[in-house]
Amino acid sequence: MSRTTSVGGRYVSTLFRTKNVEQSIRDTEEPEHSLKKSLSALDLTVFGVGVIIGTGIFVLTGQVAKNSAGPAVAISFVVAGVVCGLAALCYAEFASTVPVAGSAYTFSYASLGELPAWTIGWDLVLEFALGTAVVAVGWSGYIRSLFDSWGWHLPAYLSGRDGASGFGFDILAAALVLLLTCVLVVGMKLSARITSAVVAIKVIVVLIVIVAGAFFVTGDNYKPFIPPSQPQEAGGDLKAPLIQLMFGWAPANFGVLGIFTAASVVFFAFIGFDIVATAAEETRNPQRDMPRGILGSLFICTVLYVAVSLVVTGMQKYTKLSVEAPLADAFKSLGHPWFAGIISFGAAVGLTTVCMILLLGQTRVFFAMSRDGLLPRFFSRVHPRFRTPHRPTILLGVIIAIIAGFTSLSELAELVNIGTLFAFIVVAISVIILRRTRPDLPRAFRTPLVPALPIVSVCASLWLMLNLPAETWLRFAIWMLIGFVVYFLYGRTHSRLARGEDQPAETPKAT
Ligand code: ALA
Repeated sequence: MSRTTSVGGRYVSTLFRTKNVEQSIRDTEEPEHSLKKSLSALDLTVFGVGVIIGTGIFVLTGQVAKNSAGPAVAISFVVAGVVCGLAALCYAEFASTVPVAGSAYTFSYASLGELPAWTIGWDLVLEFALGTAVVAVGWSGYIRSLFDSWGWHLPAYLSGRDGASGFGFDILAAALVLLLTCVLVVGMKLSARITSAVVAIKVIVVLIVIVAGAFFVTGDNYKPFIPPSQPQEAGGDLKAPLIQLMFGWAPANFGVLGIFTAASVVFFAFIGFDIVATAAEETRNPQRDMPRGILGSLFICTVLYVAVSLVVTGMQKYTKLSVEAPLADAFKSLGHPWFAGIISFGAAVGLTTVCMILLLGQTRVFFAMSRDGLLPRFFSRVHPRFRTPHRPTILLGVIIAIIAGFTSLSELAELVNIGTLFAFIVVAISVIILRRTRPDLPRAFRTPLVPALPIVSVCASLWLMLNLPAETWLRFAIWMLIGFVVYFLYGRTHSRLARGEDQPAETPKAT
């Protein structure tokens, strides 16, 4: 009996073996597994803004204003921004303490243990891969709309699943992902340069919307600012936010609850600041630049989002907003197609960088998991000339191109959100744990008010998660279940810690 308990205890303790933080940093110094260190704080901020502003503001604003929140979508952006700000303060501490590729995955390997780290890595694969696909499909929509205005039309079967009767493949979305895959294989510096130019165009377009649009705002469009609550149309209970089902509330849109439902969707607009943390290993001075990059890009985006949503809902009654291209169509509806054209062009250009950086974050997490042996180590050899993780980049690029070709947007975006919020929770908990287990580690940036702030961050992220539809929770649970199967069949026995190639941080005690 005691022998069984002892074996069981040893087994459980292997699931929580932690990777030594110094070992994580040493790994990045092995020549054939190391990435080039070339990014500065400014590069990181540009990188952050480059990925943060995208489908969220250009597409989802109109959708949630029309369906869930009305003009109060501006408040939803503030709510989502605050949730991200809290998480950013936790991310910044981790990114500056454990400056190696892999973001929340690496952080949790050093603090919570192997199984939680695997869970988070698997979750990030979902966030970044599906996020890339979502943005590629959004990009393709804008490009098609530009083509249409020039009189060019793609056949329906090459225009994606939406609107196609029978076979539909989004050739533009797939082509974009493959092209960006090639850019990433060739090297980080090239991608950072392209990113800077594109980010400039995107920010200018957003500023045009704010400044030009402000002249067309009509006060009447803000009445009512928070539209009264309305019962949700039929669609089955699974479509209702989980929180409404849990408390037995009748599923409803608008009202105060609608602001939170909208916040859980527009949260997508903020995804990306966490990816800045994934580039820690490629940053010249991560201790100083990483927190600046993360917090700076998040702040800029929050201000822009609130301004854009106030302007757009002030230009056009929320009930009339377009759900496909709300920013451009608001100008069209007021008789300014020229502005609309510029905005569509800027959106299409801007979404390119979002897509590229999501893809980059994705390959870096995969790279880190493979370097630790949780995924085959074949994927962690960097290219001898370009010094990029070309193998996972190519593999994932092709898979995502196929997903982008065959899927439609909205439900995938919610799945991306739930995955990201889950990652935020793990990171916040990890900050508290690592402060206790490794108080000695130098931290260039310290999260203020630990443990209160991380605890508030956990509650805030959980609250947004509960505002997502029940079916999103179900899909997320299925994905995570698949992840556990992969871990127990492969990662648990192949990890470097399991094979004794790395010193674990604490030797598991036999009970
Ligand atoms: N935040 C990014 C976007 O809105 C993912 O597209």
